[in-house]
Amino acid sequence: MGTIAITGAASGIGAALADRLKRDGHRVIGIDVQPTDVLADLGTPTGRQHAATAVADLADGRLDGLVSGAALGPYSQPGPILRVNYFGALQILNDLRPLLERGTEPAAVAISSIGAVYDDILPDQAVPAALGACLADDEETAVAAISGHDGNAAYCVAKRGLALQVRAAVQAWGDAGVRLNAICPGRIATPMLDQIYETPVMAEAVKAMPIPLGRSAPPEEMASVIAFLLGPDARYVHGAVIHADGGSDSLLRPNTL
Ligand SMILES: NC(=O)c1ccc[n+]([C@@H]2O[C@H](COP(=O)([O-])OP(=O)(O)OC[C@H]3O[C@@H](n4cnc5c(N)ncnc54)[C@H](O)[C@@H]3O)[C@@H](O)[C@H]2O)c1
Repeated sequence: MGTIAITGAASGIGAALADRLKRDGHRVIGIDVQPTDVLADLGTPTGRQHAATAVADLADGRLDGLVSGAALGPYSQPGPILRVNYFGALQILNDLRPLLERGTEPAAVAISSIGAVYDDILPDQAVPAALGACLADDEETAVAAISGHDGNAAYCVAKRGLALQVRAAVQAWGDAGVRLNAICPGRIATPMLDQIYETPVMAEAVKAMPIPLGRSAPPEEMASVIAFLLGPDARYVHGAVIHADGGSDSLLRPNTL
């Protein structure tokens, strides 16, 4: 049994995962802007710094697992979305990796999204510029590039950037002895989805998304995939981007592996 830190643990997928891991006998350290073990705003440098320090203290300097899941929904403002969903999500992974290196069979999971693969946002000129600045680790340029564009574009940029960075980091994390994977959930019944449904222009598009399995998933079905990726059954899974979306990605991009 290990110690696992989860950002976004106060709600939705993060909360379901925290419950699942605790039931499995793990110790969970939650990080969120809503009440949990460590209160931190991952959209700001000071919040990210506080999160890393507080987790290191609570975990006595070692972690066995880490899940980077805190995020703002696509109905939020574009700048804060990039700050939280990309820069905050990535920095917490990098800042806490030294703790994982001291853990037992350590593993980390980044929660990306099916939004990462939406190529139809790319013609928007702001998108490649913002994505490029994200990948170059230039937060202020990325935020400036996406300003004035809609939250959904920012959300897709952040989630694509995060998944790409998981793939790019595969050798460095492998050398460090820590597995790192990403999951791209499809349509999951959480408070974020409730809020999407309250945003008319988004509700229509998300409801229309084709899902071969014909349904949304409860957050527990993401928790079980993440628990697998964190655990010993996934010992040889590293650098993978797992689509847990009822088949939507394969349906939308049948010729892309
Ligand atoms: N629900 C879906 O359909 C869906 C689909 C694809 C991907 N995802 C991803 O799954 C993850 C979990 O989402 P969810 O659906 O459970 O949403 P949710 O809104 O229920 O949970 C997100 C959590 O992140 C926290 N958070 C937001 N901003 C933060 C900040 N600045 N600092 C710290 N914590 C912050 C929130 O307080 C909340 O507890 C997210 O990364 C989301 O993008 C969700």
